[in-house]
Amino acid sequence: MHESSTTASPVVRLRDVTKTYEMEGKPLSVLRGITLDVEQGQIVAIIGSSGAGKSTLLHIVGALDAATSGNVMVAGRQLDGMKPTELADFRNRHIGFVFQFHHLLPEFTALENVAMPLLIRGVSMRPALAQASEYLNLVGLLERATHKPAELSGGEQQRVAVARALIPQPDLVLADEPSGNLDSENGERLHDLLWEISRRERRTFIIVTHNADLADRADRVLHMRDGLLTAP
Ligand SMILES: Nc1ncnc2c1ncn2[C@@H]1O[C@H](COP(=O)(O)OP(=O)(O)OP(=O)(O)O)[C@@H](O)[C@H]1O
Ligand SMILES: [Mg+2]
Repeated sequence: MHESSTTASPVVRLRDVTKTYEMEGKPLSVLRGITLDVEQGQIVAIIGSSGAGKSTLLHIVGALDAATSGNVMVAGRQLDGMKPTELADFRNRHIGFVFQFHHLLPEFTALENVAMPLLIRGVSMRPALAQASEYLNLVGLLERATHKPAELSGGEQQRVAVARALIPQPDLVLADEPSGNLDSENGERLHDLLWEISRRERRTFIIVTHNADLADRADRVLHMRDGLLTAP
């Protein structure tokens, strides 16, 4: 069992996190002091206008980008000060990402795409593909296993991306407008899937969304405004 599931410590613990970009010699302050705890099994929705800093925050929590100041702990680990190789390994083991555009690898089949996080961490081909089959089945796409991304619909591509995000059994799934590129029917289907998985596996999700229905279903909704997170 994962360490984080046996302790009461939050999966995400942010203290006074800031992010400032330097643009033509001038500081651009995007995050101005974010403090947040997310407990295991929670689904947190983040809403806010374009440019508010939502993706910036997800990237920092997901160890894709570093905070300018403040303290970032995810799954009990302090991210500040980790070396790039440690960060990459941390991401691979603890974080699942679902982006607006799926970022599937075009040359690989759906099954191989889902298996990729396991292959990257050195799991051999046969068990990796066997597990990938289970996760493709979970998202209802086993019969599309040999299709490449271009041979899948937009909704199907996004479901493959969800399976790929979940296969490492991550402590935290970060989703940045996961249904932003889908029609309403496929969007709703994707939301149902995320909820079902979160509830069944007690997976923790942070979902950035413009979709009011999706936000309404979350355990918590937070509004990103002026570089700060507030209850709406
Ligand atoms: N690498 C960068 N360098 C400089 N400024 C950046 C960089 N990345 C983002 N920004 C700026 O930071 C602000 C926040 O960007 P971010 O992508 O987090 O917004 P967002 O809330 O996700 O918006 P959207 O809803 O449109 O996706 C924006 O004003 C953007 O222009
Ligand atoms: Mg964004």
